[in-house]
Amino acid sequence: MKKNLIYSGDCIDILNNEIDKKSVDLIFADPPYNLSGNGLKWKGNKTGGDWYMVNEEWDKMTAPEYLQFTRKWVGACYEVLKGHGSIYISCSYHNIAEVMIVLKQLDFKIHNVITWQKINAMPNMTRRVFTHSTEFIVWAVKGKKWIFNYEELKKINPEKQKDGTLKQMRDVWALPLVQGKERLKGKDGRALHPTQKPEEMLKRIILASSNKDDLVLDPFLGSGTTVFIAKKLGRNWIGIEKSKEYIKMAQNRIFNK
Ligand SMILES: C[S@@+](CC[C@H](N)C(=O)[O-])C[C@H]1O[C@@H](n2cnc3c(N)ncnc32)[C@H](O)[C@@H]1O
Repeated sequence: MKKNLIYSGDCIDILNNEIDKKSVDLIFADPPYNLSGNGLKWKGNKTGGDWYMVNEEWDKMTAPEYLQFTRKWVGACYEVLKGHGSIYISCSYHNIAEVMIVLKQLDFKIHNVITWQKINAMPNMTRRVFTHSTEFIVWAVKGKKWIFNYEELKKINPEKQKDGTLKQMRDVWALPLVQGKERLKGKDGRALHPTQKPEEMLKRIILASSNKDDLVLDPFLGSGTTVFIAKKLGRNWIGIEKSKEYIKMAQNRIFNK
């Protein structure tokens, strides 16, 4: 098995056939949420500029297909994780139910459901529901000896005690949607990937549940956020992505081409 490489193809095939069993310390997975379909867009939105709802072919399944897909890829992740390994799965209200059911059925122990509070969330276009401004990251572990670098997290926690001293990191993370210089954009100014995750989110996860030289794997790599941060933090890494276009984008980002 090769490390520090992006594997091209379907993550279920690659996890089952190319990644060594019990070899990975930490997995971050940002799977399709299965929310695409209506192609909503909002041009000239005054608060955040043009907005396009995620509308991707890789993100459209029936409900039974989606549950089956979740079982397959989370099951494959279970096999490649070491005995002390952790998995962090990014979710929204669309897919958190399937993710939780599958984790429980596989005997993972769920430790936290971290709430990502998007401090610059888009306004709601329909005006018929509360404005969505959260996503979730479910943290689950395989065995009893999981890594949790408590002191490291205290050091990077922007929240402080009243007297200015360090504070435990809570499970609500107030972070903006990726924008400005961090957002990868094409020549037309549109985002190159519809669901690029904040670098700060990956920094917290990787520092929390892995150590230097450990192996971090992302089965749905997208624009490469996980491996970009893993490499910066001195971890070994593996990315898996099925779109050739996104692989190229991630490689440019990681190797600064
Ligand atoms: C939600 S995005 C991940 C975004 C990523 N976290 C980032 O910061 O850019 C999901 C990615 O998984 C890829 N994908 C979808 N199904 C896949 C599969 N079965 N195997 C591998 N990649 C897949 C899509 O092409 C997409 O880039």
